Amino acid sequence: MRILLLGSGGREHAFAWKLNQSAPSHSIYTAPGNPGTAKCGKNVQLDIKDFDAIRKFCIKEKIEMLIVGPEEPLVNGLYDYFKASEELKTIRFIGPSKEGAKLEGSKAFAKAFMQRHNIPTSKYREFTIENYEEGIKYLQQHALPIVLKADGLAAGKGVVICQSYVEAIAEFELMIQQAKFGEASKKVVVEDFLNGIEVSVFAITDGKNYVMLPEAKDYKRIGEGDKGLMTGGMGAVSPVPFVKDDFMRKVEERVIRPTINGIYREAIEYTGFIFFGLINVNGDPFVIEYNCRMGDPETEVVIPRLENDLVEICIAASDKELDKVQVKMDKRAAATIMAVSRGYPTGFEKGFEISGLDEKYGKQSIVFQAGTKEVNGKIVSNGGRVFCVTSFGEDIEDAVSSSLEVLNNIHFEGIYYRTDIGYEFKASASPQV
Ligand code: GLY
Repeated sequence: MRILLLGSGGREHAFAWKLNQSAPSHSIYTAPGNPGTAKCGKNVQLDIKDFDAIRKFCIKEKIEMLIVGPEEPLVNGLYDYFKASEELKTIRFIGPSKEGAKLEGSKAFAKAFMQRHNIPTSKYREFTIENYEEGIKYLQQHALPIVLKADGLAAGKGVVICQSYVEAIAEFELMIQQAKFGEASKKVVVEDFLNGIEVSVFAITDGKNYVMLPEAKDYKRIGEGDKGLMTGGMGAVSPVPFVKDDFMRKVEERVIRPTINGIYREAIEYTGFIFFGLINVNGDPFVIEYNCRMGDPETEVVIPRLENDLVEICIAASDKELDKVQVKMDKRAAATIMAVSRGYPTGFEKGFEISGLDEKYGKQSIVFQAGTKEVNGKIVSNGGRVFCVTSFGEDIEDAVSSSLEVLNNIHFEGIYYRTDIGYEFKASASPQV
């Protein structure tokens, strides 16, 4: 099968790595990819926002399956573009329609969807310039902290947890009146804060059936002990020790099944991954957000734990036969640690040569590249999140310690990574919910 994968991060390197383990007859192209994905197939210099360029490439290279890594092309309607074209509509497309991608692309749409299908989430209201004054009054009588969410995509920065009324009103004004996130914050969702532990749960669906993938927990803050600024993700672990059978049963009964049934009943075209951002509140799951894609860096632990052939799963999804698939997961723990460039997530420099990436680190560890590029035969940093190291272990502590050992051997100027990924699951830590 001739497969085109869109994206260029660690998530896409993990996908390409897994696709490359499938039948050798598959041809894997990644656009635009990174030097890591180039080792798993061919990189193609395509702008993933340029639908016409993608169309031309798919026709020229007789692509048979398209897998979309990031949300943006989906939210912008790449699926619908393919299905409207005689030349492209038979290509197996892994990613939802524009309507399905609204689960991530519009927080208000996602909240209303959850309400319609009785899926547990926090109480909310939505506001625009039309009901701005009502919004201010709503904020003034709301319990603290207050969660404000820009309705649309805001590069992961659109959620603000406000600890005071002054902060909440200022942020509300910035978002709606001053378009802090452009179009994305013309509508704002105000929701109750939920206190608990977050967990990321993943499924792939054919629009009616679904299979669950391993769950994961990511670490979003830049500093040790989850302090400091939010980032795209500094590391992840899987499985998540507090996710026991009983909790997972509740997740399937209350969240996953009602979501997939809702998609089916509303005739939303959805073949692809769904990421359920959940919070465990005293043993009960609530949805914080949906994403219409896999998480990053969660994919870098979820995909290595998946024992099935990923191409076969994607074929079953596009044939609407996921009910015939049984997912097998590696029982070992996996942990990934992201190496970032000094200054991330605010200002950072690029272009530092990276040494040690290609050393052999044994079967238990894999280096997934993210913000890297090749210049004159050398790999240099090309983003804030540069690469991550995923390792397997008997438990999370063991997996983290193997990743740290590998990280000791890879260098670039200004490298920084957290050494405490999975800290709450150490044998010495206090017990979780
Ligand atoms: N790690 C969170 C995300 O991918 O959105």
